[in-house]
Amino acid sequence: MNIGIIKEIKPGERRVAATPETVGKLCKLGFSVQVESGAGDGASFRDEDYQKAGAQVVSDTTALWNGSDIVLKVQPPDMHPQLGRHEAELLREKAALVSFLWPAKNRDLVDRLAARKATVLAMDLIPRITRAQKMDALSSMANIAGYRAVIEAASFFGRFFTGQVTAAGKVPPAKVLVIGAGVAGLAAIGAARGLGAIVRAFDTRPVVREQVQSMGAEFLEVELAEDGTGEGGYAREMSPAFIAAEMALFEKQAREVDIIITTALIPGRAAPQLILRSHVEQMRPGSVVVDLAAEAGGNCEVTRPGEVINHRGVTVIGYMDLPSRLAPTASTLYGNNLVHLLSDMGGAAKWQVNQQDEVVRGALVIHEGEVLGPPPKPKAPPPDQAKKPQAAPVKAVGKESKGGHEDSSVSARAQLTALLLMAAAFLGIGLFAPTAFLSHLTVFVLSCFVGWQVVWNVTPALHTPLMSVTNAISGIIIVGGMLKLSGPALAPATILAALAVLLSTINIAGGFLVTQRMLKMFRR
Ligand code: NAI
Repeated sequence: MNIGIIKEIKPGERRVAATPETVGKLCKLGFSVQVESGAGDGASFRDEDYQKAGAQVVSDTTALWNGSDIVLKVQPPDMHPQLGRHEAELLREKAALVSFLWPAKNRDLVDRLAARKATVLAMDLIPRITRAQKMDALSSMANIAGYRAVIEAASFFGRFFTGQVTAAGKVPPAKVLVIGAGVAGLAAIGAARGLGAIVRAFDTRPVVREQVQSMGAEFLEVELAEDGTGEGGYAREMSPAFIAAEMALFEKQAREVDIIITTALIPGRAAPQLILRSHVEQMRPGSVVVDLAAEAGGNCEVTRPGEVINHRGVTVIGYMDLPSRLAPTASTLYGNNLVHLLSDMGGAAKWQVNQQDEVVRGALVIHEGEVLGPPPKPKAPPPDQAKKPQAAPVKAVGKESKGGHEDSSVSARAQLTALLLMAAAFLGIGLFAPTAFLSHLTVFVLSCFVGWQVVWNVTPALHTPLMSVTNAISGIIIVGGMLKLSGPALAPATILAALAVLLSTINIAGGFLVTQRMLKMFRR
């Protein structure tokens, strides 16, 4: 099967749908790849690099479109400026196209492609589910956009991001506010923290609080409790009261921070306007606003989509091509997303447009000329199962079923019997065991109880540091074991001591290894 990599025609678009590296991967999947000459120029990939990777470089654009069974692109097909023909018409009949498409706002384009009896997959419709993460081009691009937003802000901001104390004077750190902690927002937080700024973030979904805090940023909150978590990993629209409360928060923040990066969006809706003209006017001169939602109308009232403006000394950046401004990385990640998709669809040998596959069906807009509706929603769990609290212990309150009574009385009886048996055992030991054994047993039982209480009550997130503490305890056990090792060779005490030394050594070595790995995670 032939794959065609087309040179992008949209002015300013520097990305390309395949890099020499991903061409190699496509060849391994059994495809033969043809690349339009100069397709990688904007992303610093040369024709000869594509050739070395196994692709054939083609100069004739029409022949390339016509000779491809699958066309890979970044931007949706458009009118070709040199050929004077629409790219959709260049696509061979019954061929497949994979690119960003935005079908909801490109109905005309969808009809043109359907007329070619094409099969079209839109990369912007890959569902945001765990299995599809490797193909999720929107997330790959948003990640880059978030990083680039910080770099753009830094280039317009006249100060360091990190605070410095030098012989020539003190420079305070920059304060950055990130609104919307989705993929782009989290990437922006990471980049701004990396440059040394003080970062604050706000999102309507409380679930992101821990992610924000784990990246070293402060999570801002409003007093109104409302959860903005929506379907499929995205947000839902908030009530007017909540929007008013968050805008009051941003008004206060605008007076304090130097840089605001806004990424707030609910898919399919106009971006909520959260930073008003008056907020921008309260910012210190020299401050910067980067509005990532510019394409959807902008989160900031004064944003001009695609432009950089200066509003009373504040720079407002409304670029809509941030991933393209980091073209080599964006092309690599997008190319990998495409490779994963084509690999999941069977590669060249077992190529299949399987509509039972929820990822393929989610992205499939046209199948052999038939325009498909939105994919069916995943089946919800049956209502009783959905409502059932997850493994929550249910306390018996008020009325109870007969079965419930029987169960609880049986377990109470079992507990009572176990307690009585233990009491009898302790009484027997107390009456007949030697005094030395009794004192050892007391210490043993108490340490078991204390140890169990301590370990059981530690939050799972702290289990790794806990291992460092247990290392110390294992150290004491080793010393005790070594002292006992000097006894007769096959005596039970010596064997037990050897066993204690062995197990504690394993515990200590393992503890050090795990601790080392944990520390590495925090090292830069
Ligand atoms: P996402 O859906 O992962 O994140 C959006 C976040 O905004 C979510 O966490 C959501 O909870 C939050 N949000 C929604 N309404 C809010 C509100 N009223 N207040 C505070 N937070 C709110 O989206 P992703 O992938 O991170 O993209 C973010 C934005 O970046 C989108 O607008 C996207 O179109 C844009 N983008 C822009 C690019 C550019 O070149 N300018 C390139 C790529 C993405």
